[in-house]
Amino acid sequence: MKKSPTLDRAPLSAPDLLCTSQLTADDIERLFATTRILKAARDAHDETLKHKRLAMIFEKDSLRTRFTFDIGMQDLGGSVVFMDHRDARLGSRESVKDVAKNLERWVDAIVARTFKHKVLEELAQHAEIPVINGLSDFVHPCQALADFFTLTEKWGSVRGRTLTFVGDGNNTCHALIHTAVKLGTNIRVCSPEGYEPNARVVNEAMRAAAATGAEVTILNDPDAAVEGAHAIYTDVWASMGQEDEIEERNGVFAAYQVDEDLMAHAEKDALFLHCLPAHRGWEVTQEVMDGPQSIVYDIAENRLHVQKAVLTHLIR
Ligand code: CP
Ligand code: NVA
Repeated sequence: MKKSPTLDRAPLSAPDLLCTSQLTADDIERLFATTRILKAARDAHDETLKHKRLAMIFEKDSLRTRFTFDIGMQDLGGSVVFMDHRDARLGSRESVKDVAKNLERWVDAIVARTFKHKVLEELAQHAEIPVINGLSDFVHPCQALADFFTLTEKWGSVRGRTLTFVGDGNNTCHALIHTAVKLGTNIRVCSPEGYEPNARVVNEAMRAAAATGAEVTILNDPDAAVEGAHAIYTDVWASMGQEDEIEERNGVFAAYQVDEDLMAHAEKDALFLHCLPAHRGWEVTQEVMDGPQSIVYDIAENRLHVQKAVLTHLIR
């Protein structure tokens, strides 16, 4: 068994991880440095979080987020208690405040996957322990950190590169925008009219981008949006909670499918990203999803390593 790595466990700028907009570029770089160490020492016996406990409360389905936080916490010597909350929203049996005030007496951090981002904010406001966003209707910060960590592995640096998100201006898209501008990556979002990302997210990102020189562009034409892009990202057209809109959205988004033709309009060897779960034949074709430019499983693997870094820096 390899020796446990020495880790920088210095706190980040915020005690919680609700949004990557809470992080500085330096926080993200430090998280990535810790991620690299943890990834290289994957098989080492690590007791960094020995006797620490993580509560996971999920209002929605999950494969990647659930497995990677559970395995990650175990890898670091800690333990996890999972609460399946799919049958009732957090706050319906007792107040979100009381959930927070109870949990902080038993565990050292909370990962929550909620419909409403406000519920996460309320948890974080009342809990004296870190609250980590495992996906809300607003953002998916752990996903974006894994996405950008993976791009950093592929390219060396993400600064000055261009990432185009094609599809719904949703939680995944918002987190990408927040993160791209911190790291100096140009971000283009291409959505059908009426499905663009939240205007406040875009305006704040444009202001934040001034510090790194990143460009934020919102477009409606897929071919123009991917021109010169180094990476193309897409996500489902209907997110969890929007199941009753699936039929309508399948029509609206039909021209926004990422296929080989669209990939050919981007830079040669542009990477393809998707947070998963993916629907082959809808937002992405099978050829692109399973093709040589796709890095979707590298990202899924890195969810584990990046989130271990997040736990290492946030849990005291
Ligand atoms: N990408 C992602 O968060 O996957 P899960 O919904 O399976 O957790
Ligand atoms: N936008 C998707 C992401 C799933 C990881 C959803 O919210 O369902």
